[in-house]
Amino acid sequence: MAVHEVFLVLAMAMVVSAIDTNWYDAHATFYGDMSGGETMQGACGYGDLFKQGYGLQTAALSTALFNDGLTCGACFEIYCTNTPQWCIPKAGSITITATNFCPPNYTPNKPDAWCNPPRKHFDLSMPMFTKIAYYKAGIVPIRYRRVLCYKRGGVKFEIKGNPYFTLVTIYNVGGAGDVNAVKIKGSKTQWIDMTRNWGQNWQTGTVLTGQNLSFQITLSDGKTLEFDNAAPDGWQFGQTYDGIKNF
Ligand SMILES: *[C@@H]1O[C@H](CO)[C@@H](O)[C@H](O)[C@H]1NC(C)=O
Repeated sequence: MAVHEVFLVLAMAMVVSAIDTNWYDAHATFYGDMSGGETMQGACGYGDLFKQGYGLQTAALSTALFNDGLTCGACFEIYCTNTPQWCIPKAGSITITATNFCPPNYTPNKPDAWCNPPRKHFDLSMPMFTKIAYYKAGIVPIRYRRVLCYKRGGVKFEIKGNPYFTLVTIYNVGGAGDVNAVKIKGSKTQWIDMTRNWGQNWQTGTVLTGQNLSFQITLSDGKTLEFDNAAPDGWQFGQTYDGIKNF
């Protein structure tokens, strides 16, 4: 192979990298009650998880897994392991989407600081936890791996902010699930790189009111999709627009 061909191959390998689907060890606990509870807002910036289609199949991730919010939207398969007395026999696995952060707890002598670095930890909704382990277990060892996300319907764009600060929450993302780069285009602008504000909220200071909005979304595996005219020129702050397509 000629030198320039080697560089080309390297460049292509960097653009599309598959997600790591190896199994790893971690622990899991649960939050809330059987209704799910506490499914509003959170560190990813998603809103009502039921309305947004995530339902109860969600978890809050510890610092070691959360990646400062970049992991928001990623999907994980999880099963209970190593504790026959706590794992429900033949329960199989559950699949969840990362929708929140489980913060560290540095209170001295706190025995349940499960989410402190470097611990890998999933705080599951109670209905998901009790699919794989007994309620009274409280905390169980698990194994987990990244899996592709299967979402019904298109990628959704919720637009917030004001004319000088447009903040877009991107949710219901399939495929690798975790958005790593976003571009936005008004019908009168070029493509503009958005910067990540927090969680899955992406921002720009360019005024885009009165223009059709298009988006280009790149996931952690390098896959990119373009959503042309996802929002019509009459788009409003506080509204959600459906990209129709998904990964
Ligand atoms: C805006 O989007 C609509 C479809 O929603 C399309 O028909 C129209 O041509 C677009 N306008 C511009 C200026 O891109």
